Amino acid sequence: MTILEAIESRHSVRRYLHKPLEQDIIDTLQAKVDKCNARGCLHIQLVTNETKAFTGIFAYGSFSGVENYFVMVGKKEDGLDERIGYYGEQLVLLAQQLGLNTCWTGLSYRKVKGAYDLGQDEKICCMIALGYGENQGMKHKIKTFEQVSNASDLTPSWFKDGVEAALLAPTAVNQQKFSFEYLGNKGGHHLVKADKGFSMIGYTHMDLGIAKLHFEIGAGKDKFDWV
Ligand SMILES: Cc1cc2nc3c(=O)[nH]c(=O)nc-3n(C[C@H](O)[C@H](O)[C@H](O)COP(=O)(O)O)c2cc1C
Repeated sequence: MTILEAIESRHSVRRYLHKPLEQDIIDTLQAKVDKCNARGCLHIQLVTNETKAFTGIFAYGSFSGVENYFVMVGKKEDGLDERIGYYGEQLVLLAQQLGLNTCWTGLSYRKVKGAYDLGQDEKICCMIALGYGENQGMKHKIKTFEQVSNASDLTPSWFKDGVEAALLAPTAVNQQKFSFEYLGNKGGHHLVKADKGFSMIGYTHMDLGIAKLHFEIGAGKDKFDWV
């Protein structure tokens, strides 16, 4: 499965089969976690065979059978949530390519003592449920590219491809409070600005990091520079 196919087929899955992850899958995911932590200055941890974090009743989302998850940890500082989104979604898309399913969870988890480490000044930003889903999730209504960007006949075709990939990104309660603006070609570089909108629910920085990763994949990272 290509990464674009992973973007197209990914949907949040909240019910999982009792099917342990194979060792080679764990090793592949762990290697990617290590890379994301090094590049993003994060402390993401892969937890396997742990059944407590997603049991019980949550205000949002009903989960069953979750036995594996990523704990999305980082040092409390500006930009943390956006980095968590950007690197966490790399793990989500890799998991999809490996035949697994996922669900980002900002609210629907509980902390489990001893299952992972939290260093000084670090916090858990969210978790990502992981495993073999009972189903593949389902498509949701999404915004149009006109609602979230200035894509038109005058903007390069890769810009619209980026926006379309971003529109398939998961966002908290499917709020999609992000926008992309093509600012033209300045000194031989195409410039793109990404922004988060306002939301009472929050999670807009994390959503923006996720959407920016999708945009880069859809557009081609070498085509433009972020402003
Ligand atoms: C930052 C973030 C936090 C989320 N938190 C929760 C959550 O606490 N509980 C839940 O059931 N789903 C949660 N979701 C999943 C979203 O509801 C889901 O991504 C959105 O409805 C779009 O559906 P899709 O992922 O199938 O495209 C979260 C997603 C994101 C990106």
